Amino acid sequence: MLFSIVTGLNCWALNMKIELKNVSLSIQQDDQTVELLKGVSLEARLGVIHALLGPSGSGKSTLLYTINRLREIQGGEITLEGKDIRRINVFELRRRIGLVMQKPIFFPGTVGENILFGPRLWSKDNMTLVDPRHYIELVQLDPAWVSRDPSTLSGGQQQRVSLARTLANNPEVLLLDEPTSALDAQASEHLETLITHLCSERGLTVIWVTHDVHQAKRIAHDVTLLYRGRVVEHGEAKRFFASPSTEEGQTYLAGKLGGQL
Ligand SMILES: Nc1ncnc2c1ncn2[C@@H]1O[C@H](COP(=O)(O)OP(=O)(O)O)[C@@H](O)[C@H]1O
Ligand SMILES: [Mg+2]
Repeated sequence: MLFSIVTGLNCWALNMKIELKNVSLSIQQDDQTVELLKGVSLEARLGVIHALLGPSGSGKSTLLYTINRLREIQGGEITLEGKDIRRINVFELRRRIGLVMQKPIFFPGTVGENILFGPRLWSKDNMTLVDPRHYIELVQLDPAWVSRDPSTLSGGQQQRVSLARTLANNPEVLLLDEPTSALDAQASEHLETLITHLCSERGLTVIWVTHDVHQAKRIAHDVTLLYRGRVVEHGEAKRFFASPSTEEGQTYLAGKLGGQL
């Protein structure tokens, strides 16, 4: 009995890839303290897609940035496999936890050079470098674009190059900030299939910010609804979409939960 409780706890702990405990972050604005994240707690399980929902201005992007330390939290704790992320070398952390921003920022150079940027940093032996064209094809772009300047691409194409660059680092966790916001329906569907496949085949853990409830229903095992910097719902996607347990959850699903200006 005791054995099964202990192994059960171990399985639960092993299953937890990213955990946020009571995370808070505030900024000073015009002599006032503005709280962007207020006691946020959530768990992202290994190998599944976790959708982060909420109206505009809820703190979704801010939350993603804290997980790979582009923004530092002031209270609480974020762990990767149980270890405080502040105790992991920040470059190592960003290789293991890849972030795809809504509006990507590229290094000067070609698409191929951008994709090879991470692998060049991590690889001890340049002979084993990945082929950037493989990653360009993975996101359904023309591999001949390896020598193009990313600034000559459309917003949706840039988002996909940014994803290809992050995947080339072979991350364990992927943080996606509205990755299909500039894509058409066919390209969105392809990206959803690709990410779902990487989760089931390679155990990739994904936190996916989307404002598209239909998309969240298609892709997510778990969801968190963030509203004004607070978690108002957190749990299994099926349960949330079938019967949200809060008034904010119901209002959000009815498309009537207003964003912050
Ligand atoms: N550096 C900053 N300075 C001032 N306000 C900020 C800053 N970063 C974020 N905010 C504010 O924090 C809130 C949450 O922003 P954000 O995380 O981008 O929300 P979301 O991604 O859910 O739309 C917004 O009201 C935004 O204006
Ligand atoms: Mg955002």
